[in-house]
Amino acid sequence: MQNTDITFKEIDRRIESQITEIWGDWVLEYSCLHYGEDCCSLAAMWDSEPVGFISVYPLPFPEPLADYRDAYIDDLEVRKEFRRQKIASRLLSMAEQWSKEHGYRQIRSWSSDDKIEALSMWKNLGYGMCPAIMRGESVKKGFEGKPIYGFYVVKPL
Ligand SMILES: CC(C)(COP(=O)(O)OP(=O)(O)OC[C@H]1O[C@@H](n2cnc3c(N)ncnc32)[C@H](O)[C@@H]1OP(=O)(O)O)[C@@H](O)C(=O)NCCC(=O)NCCS
Repeated sequence: MQNTDITFKEIDRRIESQITEIWGDWVLEYSCLHYGEDCCSLAAMWDSEPVGFISVYPLPFPEPLADYRDAYIDDLEVRKEFRRQKIASRLLSMAEQWSKEHGYRQIRSWSSDDKIEALSMWKNLGYGMCPAIMRGESVKKGFEGKPIYGFYVVKPL
C-alpha cells in the first residue's frame, strides 16, 4: 500500500458502520462521530475500507467564556498496519483547514499519558501541550471518579 492510494471522504452512515466493525462499538457508545454543519468527520479510505478517521465538533468553554467555542478533536485513529504513513497528519491538516474556514480560532484535543504515539505526534506536529489531570464532568462514561493523567493539546488556527 502506498500513501498515494489513500483517499479521504466525509463519514456517512455506511462508512460509520464500517468504522464500528473495524474499531468496535465504543465508537458509537462514546458518541465519537459528530455530524452537522459545525462538525467535521473524515475517513481515510484504502480500497473502499476506512483505515483511519477523525471527528471534530464545537466545544464551548465553561463560564465566564461560555459564549466562546473552538474545534475539538474527539477522536483520531489509524489502523495499526497503516501507521507512520502520514495518514493522521493528513487527517489533522484537513480538519485544521476545515475548522479555520468555519470560523474556529483554535483546535484542541486531549490524550492520556498512555498514548505514547499520539503524544509524539502532537509534539512533532506543532501542537502546544499542557500536562493535566482530567476529572469531573469532562471524563467519559465508565471513567467517572477516576483521575486520568494526560495532556491537553491545542493549535491556534
Ligand atoms: C496516534 C496515531 C493517530 C498516529 O497516526 P499515524 O498515521 O501513524 O501518524 P503519522 O504517520 O501522521 O505521524 C505523524 C508524526 O507523529 C509522530 N509519531 C506517530 N507515531 C509515532 C510513534 N509510534 N512513535 C514516535 N512518533 C510517532 C511522528 O513524529 C510522525 O512523523 P514521522 O513519521 O515523520 O516521524 C496512531 O498511532 C493511532 O491511531 N494511535 C492509537 C489511537 C490514538 O492514540 N489516537 C490519538 C488521539 S487520542
